[in-house]
Amino acid sequence: MTCESLPATWQCSDSELFIRFSDVFVPRREEQISAMCDLLNDLAAPRILDLCSGHGQLSEAYLRRKPDAHVTLLDRSPEMLASADQRLKAFRGRYELMLASIEERAWRKRSSYDAVMTSLAVHHLDAEGKRALYRDIREMLTPGGVFAMTDLVEAAGPGTRQLAADHWAEAVRRASLEQFGSDEAEKIFEQTEWNYYRLPHPDPVDKPSSIAEQLDWLREAGFANADVVWMYAGHAIFTATREAIE
Ligand SMILES: C[S@@+](CC[C@H](N)C(=O)[O-])C[C@H]1O[C@@H](n2cnc3c(N)ncnc32)[C@H](O)[C@@H]1O
Repeated sequence: MTCESLPATWQCSDSELFIRFSDVFVPRREEQISAMCDLLNDLAAPRILDLCSGHGQLSEAYLRRKPDAHVTLLDRSPEMLASADQRLKAFRGRYELMLASIEERAWRKRSSYDAVMTSLAVHHLDAEGKRALYRDIREMLTPGGVFAMTDLVEAAGPGTRQLAADHWAEAVRRASLEQFGSDEAEKIFEQTEWNYYRLPHPDPVDKPSSIAEQLDWLREAGFANADVVWMYAGHAIFTATREAIE
């Protein structure tokens, strides 16, 4: 992978690390992916948008689970999309790739979907960016459509921030041993200061919002049934639906 650098954003070098270590760096990764797929399990022949899809792990799990699904993978990183294309070879014809930024408005008007899923990316937007995104996603969903999001969330205070940091570090320690047989991945997690909750200062790249704020913004956007179904180590899974009859 040849990396070009953009300041104060997700970097190509982050993609390289994430492709190699996502199953260690993301706490309880398998459980998260499975819970995300559960949220979209009841949709019939769904057209899905995987927003900031990365190298396609979530899309792969969903395409495997739902043989009648079609997924559009959107990401700003050509390297991530190339890696997703490689991973999804067995599903040709059931997915497409879209090179775009989450901040752009053009892709939001282009299509409608039965569900929008997104994993570990919306925290790159600030509060206003998230609010606008939730409004636009609701508009993009067909009636009865589902939004599912797993993401970092801001802690409500120093106590829960400390707990999130410690739980995340412990999850990475275990996963590094299980998957690499050593602390190799754990050391890289620490060296690269991947644990957001240990950072002493605000971060220009990661801007998580609290669970309470996000549930409010989802309701404000017109979603029904906004809820959190899972949380661990500062990572929470949200869902909300567009009412079938309005
Ligand atoms: C932590 S990775 C998560 C990837 C994937 N969703 C997953 O869970 O495996 C964050 C992803 O967001 C993408 N990303 C970061 N900033 C973005 C932006 N402004 N617009 C679109 N994609 C972005 C990165 O390229 C990367 O693929």
